[in-house]
Amino acid sequence: VAVLTIRVLGDPVLRQDTIPVSGMTPELRRLVDDLFDTMHAAKGIGLAAPQVGRRERIAIAEVEGQRVVLVNPEILSAAGKSKREEGCLSIPDVFADVQRPATVRVQAYDADFKPFEIESGDLLGTCLQHEIDHLHGKLFLDHLSLLKRRRALSEWDEVKHEFPDFRRELTAADLDAHPSREDESL
Ligand code: NI
Repeated sequence: VAVLTIRVLGDPVLRQDTIPVSGMTPELRRLVDDLFDTMHAAKGIGLAAPQVGRRERIAIAEVEGQRVVLVNPEILSAAGKSKREEGCLSIPDVFADVQRPATVRVQAYDADFKPFEIESGDLLGTCLQHEIDHLHGKLFLDHLSLLKRRRALSEWDEVKHEFPDFRRELTAADLDAHPSREDESL
């Protein structure tokens, strides 16, 4: 397994747009595998390439055993409204309620670069939207009201010193650690 370093809030890579992928290569397949290993080590349910310092338009999600690889994803349509507490592997220990569309229809390519569509609501629907945001330099904080955003940032101020150079180091040993509240971080 290759557990990668997660970049945290403050690293400019999290605010950059990604570059669409023109095809899968062995190197990019390895990136997808590494994203899963890293997400598992961090006890998350979603992870996007910029969170490990990469610019490719690739993200993953895994909710209740359902694994989704998103290459060049696009939201085709969205419906309804839902409010759900979100966290982010790049903003550890900070959680806030985020309002988003309840269901989305997403078009993407899979790890074999085959096109597919997926319609999702509930936690997976939230997760897909959160990861697609990451691919465009957007974080869940950006969806919050000014007041809630300030509160979230003051929580972040309490913990950010734990991540020098905006890096969150994980090890393969973290793969065996017990899940925590971060279980639902994306
Ligand atoms: Ni996130």
